[in-house]
Amino acid sequence: MQAWVVSDYGDYHDVMQWGEFETPQPGPGEALVKVAASGVSFALVLRIAGQYQIKDPLPFVPGTDVAGEVVAVGEDCPYQVGERVAGTAGRGGFAEYAILPGDITYRLPEGMPDTDGVAMLNAYQTSYIGLKHHGRVGKGDYLLVHGAAGALGLAAVQLGKHMGATVIATASSAEKLDACKRHGADHLINYSTDDFVEAVQDVSKGHGADVIYDPVGGDVFDASRRCIAFRGRLVIVGFTSGRIPEIATNRMLLRCFAVDGFTLHGYRQHQPHLLEEGQAELFRLYREHGLRPAIHEVMPIGELARAFELIQNRKTIGKIVLVPG
Ligand SMILES: NC(=O)c1ccc[n+]([C@@H]2O[C@H](COP(=O)([O-])OP(=O)(O)OC[C@H]3O[C@@H](n4cnc5c(N)ncnc54)[C@H](OP(=O)(O)O)[C@@H]3O)[C@@H](O)[C@H]2O)c1
Repeated sequence: MQAWVVSDYGDYHDVMQWGEFETPQPGPGEALVKVAASGVSFALVLRIAGQYQIKDPLPFVPGTDVAGEVVAVGEDCPYQVGERVAGTAGRGGFAEYAILPGDITYRLPEGMPDTDGVAMLNAYQTSYIGLKHHGRVGKGDYLLVHGAAGALGLAAVQLGKHMGATVIATASSAEKLDACKRHGADHLINYSTDDFVEAVQDVSKGHGADVIYDPVGGDVFDASRRCIAFRGRLVIVGFTSGRIPEIATNRMLLRCFAVDGFTLHGYRQHQPHLLEEGQAELFRLYREHGLRPAIHEVMPIGELARAFELIQNRKTIGKIVLVPG
């Protein structure tokens, strides 16, 4: 089969080539899928560079989120040939064929395009788990979403609205904030020009944010402590700013708030049933409430390097999805 093959760790411009790679065979519980769409994320740049917590054995095919049709199955696989599914592979997604494990793979609802299916995996699962199980977002809560025009951010804006929160979105440009508004944000703050702490206190009339969803970290995390409500939940999901912040626990004690972090990987290992429940709810919202994933661009798989460049240069609004061709 044809695939993006990484021959050494390094800059993706140098070490990644489109070429032949052996078609994988499904083992017990696995499905071989003809890839119709795959999702792009920044973590893959780090994996290709060999700078991620997971070290892929060389040579390897990058790509984790995949949607497509099952063409072969291993023993005891819960799916059948011909079914359309979406799921998360360990690696191997940027190829003509990929292996999906049966347990963290989902049947696509009738009529859902593969591109929507793949866009509703990682970003929507993360934001759903983060808001429901860590932020415990409820009706009437003030939810502050940082980096709100990113893939996770826009998912959090949409899901926060479905959960009944008043959503306050931060982003670095007017264009990004427009996208947040279109996806349901109630209040918009340009955190590259304005003091978001003051703006949150104004919007919430001094109450503060009950839940803060933070994929950015660094200075944004530090300042967030000054606009969190009594018994607020500050949910850590990532560090796109490039700095992992630290916090003195006495601040949490004195201001009475919680800091709570998680990874989807942790859920895959320890509580996969919550991912399954979450994905079922996301697909229900898609079918019954018109939830649609925020997609920046659908591009041919040959343009993977351009997709990485856009993400690295902070130019995307929502998710990039690749399709064959
Ligand atoms: N915990 C988990 O299980 C989990 C799962 C998936 C992803 N993640 C992590 O969550 C983070 C966000 O993922 P994503 O897919 O939403 O990324 P994304 O689409 O690239 O969005 C990230 C946002 O971060 C903001 N940002 C602030 N400073 C930045 C900087 N120096 N460089 C780049 N962006 C910057 C950007 O918004 P502005 O320009 O508006 O500031 C951007 O829109 C990543 O770190 C990812 O690894 C965690």
